[in-house]
Formats: sequence, structure tokens, C-alpha cells
Amino acid sequence: MYVEIEYPTEKGEFYRVLEEQLRLYTGKETDRTAALANFSAVLKQAFSDINWAGFYLVSGDELVLGPFQGKPAVSRIAYGTGVCGTAWRERRAQVVEDVDCFSGHIACDCGTHSEIVIPLRDAAGEIWGVLDMDSTVMGRFTEEDRLGLEGCVNRLDKFA
Ligand code: SME
Repeated sequence: MYVEIEYPTEKGEFYRVLEEQLRLYTGKETDRTAALANFSAVLKQAFSDINWAGFYLVSGDELVLGPFQGKPAVSRIAYGTGVCGTAWRERRAQVVEDVDCFSGHIACDCGTHSEIVIPLRDAAGEIWGVLDMDSTVMGRFTEEDRLGLEGCVNRLDKFA
């Protein structure tokens, strides 16, 4: 049963508690879909001002929509396009303060103002998907969030 908790406001403490929650709800799971579904649900519960949290997974030369929480979204993103495809091509996280200033941003919800995309890597460093989070607040995500979320997605390596 999901137990509602209060997340700390201090970022370091927030990510420590978040890691615990992710371990609790995904740690023992061996099925990729189940783990990614609960992972996105935990993120949606944990973060304030978030309207979308979920995954796109590499399939050939596209990213295909995976488990997520939020409104229906674009289901396929070509390599190098949008914020997600850019994170894949550049092989690094994208922290977008204002989506209207990111050329090629793919809008899924007009309420979104900022976005963070974190690549998922396998043991060899190859990218097998991305974590995407959207916020209704401008500049919601910081470098601290990038580092915190990069730490969180490390536990997903086994699903590559
Ligand atoms: N904004 C993303 C598309 C996915 S939605 O935000 C869920 C992008 O530009 O890649």
C-alpha cells in the first residue's frame, strides 16, 4: 500500500528521501514496465508543480513513449528532435528553464513551462531511454535536480 509522506524542502534531504521511496517501490521489481511505471508515479508524488513525469525508450532511431504519469503525450520522438531527442543525441541531460526558448521543443501540454530530461545509460554507457519531467513553473529544475535525478536513474541500469 502506498503511504503518503511529506518530502523535505531542502534539496539534499529531498533526494535522500526520494531515493528511499524509489528503492521501496521499485527496488525488488524485475519487470521493466512495472519498475518504470512505479518510478514515474513516485516522482509525480514527490515533486511539487510537476504535470508530467515518465519515460521514452529507444527503439531503432526513435524514442517511444514508455510508462508515465500525466496527460497523454506524443508517442514517438525522432533522434535529435525535441528536448528528449536532443538529450539522446548530445548524450547529456537537458535542463530547460523556459520551454518556449528551446528551439524544437515538442509541446504536449500548453501548461508546461520548464522541463528536465535525463538520459538512461546501460553498463557500456549506451543510451537506452530518457526520463522526462515537465513543470508548470518556469525554471523549476536546477543543476541540483539534474545531479539528484541522475543519481536516481542509476538504479534502472538493470532494465537496459
Ligand atoms: N517536450 C518533450 C516531448 C515530450 S512531452 O514533454 C511529455 C520534448 O520536447 O522532447
